[in-house]
Amino acid sequence: MSGPVNFESNAECSSMLALVSTITECVMTLSSSSSNSQSSSGEFLMRTPLYTPGNSDSRQATLTDARVRLREACDELLYLANGPHEHLMTIAQAHRIEAALQYATHFNLAHHVPLGQDGSSSISFGDLASKSSVQTEQCTRIMRLLISCHIFWEPTAGCVAHTAASRLLCDVQIGSAVSYYTDESFRAASFLSEACEQWPITEERNHTALNLAFRTSLPKFEFFATEPWRARRFMQGMAGMAASERFSLEHLVDGFDWASLPRGATVIDIGGANGHASMAVAEKFPQLQFVVQDLKSAFNERELHDHLKSRVRFMEYDFYSPQPVTASVYILRWILHDYPDKYAVKILRSQLNSMQPYSRLLIMDGIMLSPGKTGKVEQRKARFANEEKGTRHSHDDTFELLGEEPRALVEFISAGKPTT
Ligand SMILES: C[S@@+](CC[C@H](N)C(=O)[O-])C[C@H]1O[C@@H](n2cnc3c(N)ncnc32)[C@H](O)[C@@H]1O
Repeated sequence: MSGPVNFESNAECSSMLALVSTITECVMTLSSSSSNSQSSSGEFLMRTPLYTPGNSDSRQATLTDARVRLREACDELLYLANGPHEHLMTIAQAHRIEAALQYATHFNLAHHVPLGQDGSSSISFGDLASKSSVQTEQCTRIMRLLISCHIFWEPTAGCVAHTAASRLLCDVQIGSAVSYYTDESFRAASFLSEACEQWPITEERNHTALNLAFRTSLPKFEFFATEPWRARRFMQGMAGMAASERFSLEHLVDGFDWASLPRGATVIDIGGANGHASMAVAEKFPQLQFVVQDLKSAFNERELHDHLKSRVRFMEYDFYSPQPVTASVYILRWILHDYPDKYAVKILRSQLNSMQPYSRLLIMDGIMLSPGKTGKVEQRKARFANEEKGTRHSHDDTFELLGEEPRALVEFISAGKPTT
């Protein structure tokens, strides 16, 4: 729905009724798979399930479809219910919620709220503030904004408890992802227009909003290397993002015929961070060996699971230099979207010298679908492009290069081969 909305008009009321009917239908589908129908509002928030990967049967597909349609219909309905002015003003002030979440993660508030299973365990604002070394009145105000967004709740006046969403902040990996978004990503996003003004046309990795926000001339990951805690947090955050549908490791584990590789075959995970993607494949395919390559600042050997250490190892490697290892499969997972064409080509070219006729290059990344191919909620999620770049380079530009067809990718790689 676009253009001005007249809430009073019959047409708008009909649209809203149609959406309500879609919502009812989707909720009926979802509730048919649920055993608890009597939850109170607070309990409901506690019990809302996380996306659970691993179940790709047709029943699961029906439920996933119902959830996607439900989200789209609710989004549209909320837009109509708000009307244009309220809608615009709400979006214009969304940064206030982001800032409140930043406060909660910065001061580790979630960790001081009791993790009772039934959601009834709570802590007073005063005790929470004192344990977190913040001021009570300020903490109460900021927490109540998050509570209005279903992040924490107030079961009795003056006391805070967890919701299903706020509990996730206690997970070190998911909490790290939220900290990264509300810190580096949030700060950089506010410099988007200035970066576009300063570098209207550029293919440089250090001409980005992040460079302005952090007053650095270093590209993002080189900047992170100068403040290793940021690098560590980002790498943990990447593992935390894998708990979502979009980033799920299931796509990598199920999306390639790993069983067809010969015993002892080597898989290289280029820019593999803490090795979480390699470990997920290694768990299921014991005949394979993995090399996780990344910058030194990204490694944390402690993240490797003990029982996989004989098959998964780390190796320092800069992906702009020639690839030193010959392998059956080279993975580039969530790498290329970060770079303008010039650098994406460099990364791909660097791999070519070690590839053999039997080698495969596996790219897992976000590909932009044309507007209209999915609903607005799905489009929005896909278009959360890296604003810290602040340049004309977006997912669209990068993946125009590859197209939506695998054939285009093969042609692209061939075109990138040295012509000696
Ligand atoms: C968006 S993260 C993706 C991490 C991982 N592949 C995943 O799927 O979670 C990008 C990764 O590229 C790594 N990286 C950045 N520059 C690099 C370089 N020049 N050489 C090797 N790795 C690099 C970062 O350290 C980071 O781990």
